[in-house]
Amino acid sequence: MAARRPLIVGNWKMNGLKASLAEAKAMADRAASEKPKAELGLCPPATLVAAMAKALGGSPADPHRIGVGGQDCHARSSGAHTGDISAEMLKDAGATYVIVGHSERRADHGETDAVVRAKAQAAHRAGLIAIICVGETLAQRDAGETLKVINGQLRASLPDDAAAANTVIAYEPVWAIGTGRTPTPAQVAEVHAAIRQDLMARFDDGAGFRLLYGGSVKPDNARQLMAVADVDGALVGGASLKINDFWPIVEAKN
Ligand code: PGA
Repeated sequence: MAARRPLIVGNWKMNGLKASLAEAKAMADRAASEKPKAELGLCPPATLVAAMAKALGGSPADPHRIGVGGQDCHARSSGAHTGDISAEMLKDAGATYVIVGHSERRADHGETDAVVRAKAQAAHRAGLIAIICVGETLAQRDAGETLKVINGQLRASLPDDAAAANTVIAYEPVWAIGTGRTPTPAQVAEVHAAIRQDLMARFDDGAGFRLLYGGSVKPDNARQLMAVADVDGALVGGASLKINDFWPIVEAKN
């Protein structure tokens, strides 16, 4: 099995106007000149997907281009779903990835594991890489249920035809997102090992799936988090908006 290439993805959430494309372009220029080891992605709000893909350019075959992704997609390819966006539309706009099952979607929009699974299938159907998020709440961690919760989310959110080439798992403890709090390296290692074990039990290429850690990854903690066994990269929120915060995280996985 080929070695897993690290992957660092920025999730801009509901942040970014056209003027922000200059920041993304600066990141792309830096990636082109420094050729980091990690594959890089940026997931702007839907309004910027097409413009960002155009601004960043580069062919999918270029290992040092920054790929663009959506933050969500509908399970259907088209139809009467006001306000929604399909995986096919993201692909058409130039996307490579789509995040599905982010805890903010699960919480704000009541997305269940079954919904997340349908969205991951849609991503695969459209030829996108699905970045499927899982993570426990603080109450679940305090109750000692972390691994049980993660295992359940994985089982129910991953389609049976998921493969290392089209699926990335992001472990994002809900209590670490946007809070400045992070799990200890030992806590991350425990969860990532459990995820790896689950993937290997279920998929022939389970050893090849990339596992990202997400939740308050910052320049000052990235090196420690990225060094944990079975952490293949990061899903970065707040610190992905500015090159000066994002780049040290990219370099932490070099
Ligand atoms: P954060 O967000 O880095 O701002 O904590 C991470 C995420 O929600 O993907």
